[in-house]
Amino acid sequence: MQDEELIAHRAAAAARRRLEAPGVAVGITEDVIRDQVHAFYGRVRADSMLGPIFEAKIDDWDAHLAKLCDFWSSVLLMTGRFKGAPMPAHARLVGVGGAHFAHWLEIWRGTARETCAPPAADMFIARAEMIARSLQMGMAMARGELPPVRSAAAGEADQHRGRQDEHPGQDKGRPASDA
Ligand code: HEM
Repeated sequence: MQDEELIAHRAAAAARRRLEAPGVAVGITEDVIRDQVHAFYGRVRADSMLGPIFEAKIDDWDAHLAKLCDFWSSVLLMTGRFKGAPMPAHARLVGVGGAHFAHWLEIWRGTARETCAPPAADMFIARAEMIARSLQMGMAMARGELPPVRSAAAGEADQHRGRQDEHPGQDKGRPASDA
């Protein structure tokens, strides 16, 4: 394939991808993303729990907002504009945990409901909830905080049950539902 043909082919494929992007069907555009992102971070900056965390890290708010618009544009419009790395950026945040994420999501949901039409708000909210979950998992893993797959108590119960299976009938007190 000639260079120009290849370029045209890639441009057509990118245009097709954008038409099939999840946000398109619910009316999300770059302007909608801009309104949501700017309104949300306006609230976050004024928030007593989250504001200081952001102010400690972000020197250039215009650049941060542009980056977050690129992020949401990549997620919902598949433009591929975002080039950052959210996981390490959040793993570095000391003392940020579940309560902060719950509050972040609460402000995000409130902003989306006020800023966007319901189908677009639903999509912003569903995607943010999914990403927040995976960021929290990644942060817990980076900090070595993930619990074992099974609790120690469950492991002990299994061992006990194993012994009972070797000597059936000795634990008459075990409830039937635990069988
Ligand atoms: C408690 C919740 C959260 C806090 C306190 C928080 C805080 C921050 C801070 C301080 C930064 C800048 C980090 C730096 O430049 O070193 C950042 C970056 C970022 N955040 Fe969050 N964040 C939270 C949740 C989320 C969620 C749920 C999302 C996505 C749905 C998100 C998306 C991003 C993105 C895309 C960046 C840019 C990463 C990069 O520079 O590559 N954040 N966040």
